[in-house]
Amino acid sequence: MEVINKIADLKVKVQSLKSAGKTIGLVPTMGALHRGHASLVERSVKENDVTIVSVFVNPTQFNDKNDLANYPRTFEADRDLLSSLGATIMFAPTAEEVYPEPDTRTFSYPPTDTVMEGAFRPGHFNGVCQIVSKLFEFTQPTHAYFGEKDFQQIAVIRAMAAEHFPGLNISPCPIVRENDGLALSSRNTLLAADERQIAPNIYKALKASVNYAKNHTVEETKQWTIDEINAVKGLEVQYYEIVDAATLASIKDWKDAEHVQGCITVFCGKTPIRLIDNINYK
Ligand code: PAJ
Repeated sequence: MEVINKIADLKVKVQSLKSAGKTIGLVPTMGALHRGHASLVERSVKENDVTIVSVFVNPTQFNDKNDLANYPRTFEADRDLLSSLGATIMFAPTAEEVYPEPDTRTFSYPPTDTVMEGAFRPGHFNGVCQIVSKLFEFTQPTHAYFGEKDFQQIAVIRAMAAEHFPGLNISPCPIVRENDGLALSSRNTLLAADERQIAPNIYKALKASVNYAKNHTVEETKQWTIDEINAVKGLEVQYYEIVDAATLASIKDWKDAEHVQGCITVFCGKTPIRLIDNINYK
């Protein structure tokens, strides 16, 4: 596996791969890699001649300076993992390399980027679109892989790709979980032992809510799920929305959408650590 830090070097490499007719899979990440990321890389390695994994903690998508400062960084372990998974290139640039000057581009895809994470983290999805569009441009992938852990992010990236990169396939990948149900996340390493112990109650409640939903309304199911989680000491729901999986607009009736997803954000512990998860209802 080759580690590339410079955009110019990456572009030269991509050009030669493209002229040789190779298909390119891209897996964008912010590092601190775990089995969730690995599942995306494994799929890309299977489906493409070449896999490029970017490892870059993108400052423009953080609306909280502390969150950016505390984000875990584990470059060497990431490099070893990616190499063992069969990735071809690890692209790990500096912030100065990616943003030699401030990126003033704006992206807007309401309601996908204005609800939920879009409402609670202003500017977040604009930053995600800035970095992901740059990565698409640098690597010219045939397929790009994203985890359903960030359900809303996939919808926003699909909209951005439809506008700027027609023909690029966005491949969603299922959420990888710990045995106790907690969705794998780089932020889980920031949880104290007691926080780690209560965190699985989020998925437990989401799963139970699918059963509850069978004979309750959308509003009742939403409130029941919030109450179940808030009843756990140390957990506090920031939002829970039951939405049309395609548009991310909230629904009133189960019949309002073909596919329905519940998307949640929960504060865990004293710091607190912000955890996100989601579940499919139909
Ligand atoms: P990051 O949080 O590092 O996640 C990189 C990719 O891994 C995302 O597509 C995310 O959905 C996926 N992922 C994370 N945890 C997962 C899990 N438990 N199961 C399956 N997939 C999982 O998402 C980002 O980085 C950034 O916003 C990025 C797209 C790289 C732009 O900076």
